[in-house]
Amino acid sequence: MFNNSIHFEGAQLACDRVLVSDIVAQIGTPVYIYSLPRILANFKRIQAAFPRAHIHYSAKANANLTILRSLVQAGAGIDAVSGGEIYRALAADTPPEQIVFAGVGKTSQELYYALEQKIGWFNVENADEGRKLDRMAYVANTTAQVALRLNPDVTAKTHPHIATGHGAAKFGMTADAVRALLDHADETPHLRYNGIHIHIGSQLHDTDATAEALQTVRDLIAPYPQITTIDLGGGLPVAYAPDEEIPDLDSFAAVLNPLLEGYEVILEPGRAIVADAGMLITRVLYTKEQGGQRFVIVDAGMTDLIRPALYDAHHEIIPIIRNEQPTDAVQVVGPVCETTDVLGRGINLPPVQPNDCLAILTAGAYGMVMASNYNARPRPPEVAVSEDGNSWYLVRHRETWQDLIAHELDVT
Ligand code: LLP
Repeated sequence: MFNNSIHFEGAQLACDRVLVSDIVAQIGTPVYIYSLPRILANFKRIQAAFPRAHIHYSAKANANLTILRSLVQAGAGIDAVSGGEIYRALAADTPPEQIVFAGVGKTSQELYYALEQKIGWFNVENADEGRKLDRMAYVANTTAQVALRLNPDVTAKTHPHIATGHGAAKFGMTADAVRALLDHADETPHLRYNGIHIHIGSQLHDTDATAEALQTVRDLIAPYPQITTIDLGGGLPVAYAPDEEIPDLDSFAAVLNPLLEGYEVILEPGRAIVADAGMLITRVLYTKEQGGQRFVIVDAGMTDLIRPALYDAHHEIIPIIRNEQPTDAVQVVGPVCETTDVLGRGINLPPVQPNDCLAILTAGAYGMVMASNYNARPRPPEVAVSEDGNSWYLVRHRETWQDLIAHELDVT
């Protein structure tokens, strides 16, 4: 939640050396604010813990161009999961060979685009996809470097919605399917099977499941010397509450690094790079008490940050001006016409008034990227605090009502 970048300066919440209240005074609410210093510090911490790994930032966590560019300039590659994310990565000047393309259902159009752009890796998830990519590479007169995605059949300790490595999940293929492709590599001559890919889940709460999956990978690929790279996916966790116990980076590194010996390594962290570098600032509209509940109604909702509604995820919520009065447990809710439009249950807040601003913390990952226009609500703007921490700039405009109808064809 709090760190070197997101902290209080006196009574004022600050992002590095910028006061949140200054940004809000100019941009209004709701608004996402990101600290580039914190994002780069997180990236460097992961690099230091896994010195031999190539870090491919998972753009799905937060795909704002400024963030992508900043990380790419610092040496990160990108993990993209759609043609659109590859397009974004290239727009942020990612060298194409530094892009890995994952995804359970890649279309022909996306595969063709990725081939044409000569991206570094295709993480292939089933035999049909492999055959399709092989034919397309033949037509495009090229070869594609492939990491086969294994479903290692381990159950990660995390929220069931974000566990991906158990046998019943749609992701990856069985060890037998991987072996079959490697044993018949001559049938797909335009693919170079150089890697194996796993991603067992996000916000991993222990290191055991990843270690188990990695051991499965090692056993599987031992007879295939052409497999020189292991792509371990993402999943490094962050604490969303002061008492949330998660293994730290060093624990993951201590368990995983020895198992990665002898291989080139790719990591695809998303959340661990951006989550605690971002916050969503919202304004109190009303307060009311009913049904034994105290409601604080704010101008952000599930359309801006869906994690609490979708995963029952917890985010700390605090006033942007420090308030030492006794706190009370409240529900912070949005304006959307859905009962599940709750940003926080049992949030301890001091008394707040309409117009006070609140910060929803640890919202840099899977916040804006999952925002929607439900209820015809424009998506919020994004602000980044500069790499030196001294200034800020708008990095995405607030959407307008005109934007909301811009793609519609009114034919009546
Ligand atoms: N690589 C692959 C193949 C993935 O599927 C994911 C995340 C990542 C990397 C990045 O994982 P991370 O390091 O961020 O844990 N919307 C959910 C999270 C969904 C994660 C999907 N895949 C949330 O808000 O918690």
